[in-house]
Amino acid sequence: MPHVVLIPGDGIGPEITESVKQILHVAQADVQWVECAAGEAAVTSHGNPLPEETIQAIERHRIALKGPLTTPVGAGFRSINVALRQHFDLFANIRPARTLPGIDTPFRHVDMVLFRENTQGLYIGRERWVEEGQEAESLAVVSRKASERIIKEAFEYAMRHGRKKVSLIHKANILKFTTGLFLEVGREIATQYPSIEFEDLIIDNMAMQMVMRPERFDVIVTTNMFGDILSDLASGLVGGLGVTGAGNVGESAAIFEAVHGSAPDIAGKGIANPLAFLFSAVMMLDHLDQNKTAERIRAAIYTVLQEHKSDCTADIGGEGQTKSFTDAICNVLSP
Ligand code: NAI
Ligand code: MG
Repeated sequence: MPHVVLIPGDGIGPEITESVKQILHVAQADVQWVECAAGEAAVTSHGNPLPEETIQAIERHRIALKGPLTTPVGAGFRSINVALRQHFDLFANIRPARTLPGIDTPFRHVDMVLFRENTQGLYIGRERWVEEGQEAESLAVVSRKASERIIKEAFEYAMRHGRKKVSLIHKANILKFTTGLFLEVGREIATQYPSIEFEDLIIDNMAMQMVMRPERFDVIVTTNMFGDILSDLASGLVGGLGVTGAGNVGESAAIFEAVHGSAPDIAGKGIANPLAFLFSAVMMLDHLDQNKTAERIRAAIYTVLQEHKSDCTADIGGEGQTKSFTDAICNVLSP
């Protein structure tokens, strides 16, 4: 039985973790949880937001399901999410967004998978004061090697999943060296995949296109910060942050997590939508080659969204709470 490191995390993390544990148990997923701490919760329990034993557990088992981790704004410790992605060189952040049945949005045919470069760019927060409190600088690094591997990953995914098009998003008109290099590498790699259509769009146009005609996008590949922003936008097209899962994947490890954060505004109220974290767990089951179990859970989710809407959480138009939503999925899986 594969061991999976489980990090409940902060805010709504423990609530949605309980939900996902219950559902995977009822679905008889073949996983043995190894619970570890990280984030603010670990500052309390271990005096360190990223305890050495958590790193060692991921090194040993090479797969983790991680709840959201709070990162203090401004002063305070740096993002543990970024630290984990860097430490394990999880270069591909894969974020699907797909129209779901029973969720009312203005869009009906969204089915996109966003590949976000996960180790470089502005997002890694390499900053310094030029003059403390007066002027600050932030460094964005883009390398050919890192661009090649994420763009190849996007094309390979497109080939494996019968996808038709890859859209590369950049700002090469202004950031000519960094995102210019990313675009140049994309154009080179695209020639190796003649059966896949390739296009490039500038990020601001992309933001507009995504809300006007989201159905025209298939596989998207972009740099770290643009990917962060566009993946929340993509979530908004299909029902919000409560419904989109993600995987951070590298050569030696994979960490699955929701797109959303710790949602302090609703933490502890029992009303968090467990779907985003559940979809992340389902992506993890696919990664573990437990595709049948993954498919059964997906089908159960679709049934609940269509036939038991009142049990769903309020963010997607239901009248229920985390628990009623979880129980409804479990009842479909094991009546
Ligand atoms: P957020 O994603 O936590 O919340 C944004 C909005 O979406 C809030 O109104 C929240 O209530 C709602 N929301 C999020 N998940 C939901 C769910 N499952 N069900 C229902 N509603 C949900 O973003 P925010 O507030 O900007 O960040 C809060 C904290 O989370 C920050 O410390 C941030 O650094 C951290 N964060 C961590 C991430 C991670 O661990 N991968 C990702 C994003 C943010
Ligand atoms: Mg984000």
